[in-house]
Amino acid sequence: MKVLGIMGSPRRGSNTDILLDKALEGAAQAGAEVEKVLISKLKITPCLEIYACLKDGNCSIKDDMRELYDKLVEADHVILASPIFFYGITAQAKALVDRSQALWVRKHVLKTLGEDRRERRGLFISVGATKGEKLFDGAVLTVKYFFDAIDVKYAGDLLIRGVDDRGEIAEHPGHLEDALRLGRELVAGV
Ligand SMILES: Cc1cc2nc3c(=O)[nH]c(=O)nc-3n(C[C@H](O)[C@H](O)[C@H](O)COP(=O)(O)O)c2cc1C
Repeated sequence: MKVLGIMGSPRRGSNTDILLDKALEGAAQAGAEVEKVLISKLKITPCLEIYACLKDGNCSIKDDMRELYDKLVEADHVILASPIFFYGITAQAKALVDRSQALWVRKHVLKTLGEDRRERRGLFISVGATKGEKLFDGAVLTVKYFFDAIDVKYAGDLLIRGVDDRGEIAEHPGHLEDALRLGRELVAGV
């Protein structure tokens, strides 16, 4: 069983990265093979609305997203982790999400994704500096629709308010424990 972790923060030693590592550690404890992708290190052009994907579900842009399509399709479970930037996910993560339109085409137009009826589950991890009630609303909607497009069920999330400084999350052992547990549960299907 493979779990793909997508790290959407551009910051080194980011809170998101620390939380994602914990979740992947939990998934590994539950027996999964885990892989982490740092999207800020990749070249992912935003969607250009060429719609070449409508033909065969493949995007015509030649960049690092090419490898990611295969990883997104092959993973049994997916963890998307991104901090909140202006009430949404980061631009890096959003570019990946928008480019998954090619997989939306495979699922909804060509009907070639999801045919095997595997139940693939997704976990969303996010962190923001402020404490507003609606802090995660926009990001959660984006990620729910992203998971649906890639044929992954939105199985849960870990949304943490009031964390701002680099690596500050490490001072919150309770949140790290939650990430570890959620990673384990993602694989165990709890
Ligand atoms: C460009 C930018 C936009 C941000 N927008 C928000 C925001 O809308 N709401 C919020 O609570 N925090 C916002 N933040 C703060 C980050 O969410 C916060 O610092 C978080 O801990 C960063 O996580 P990371 O270390 O994983 O990158 C923003 C930070 C940056 C750099």
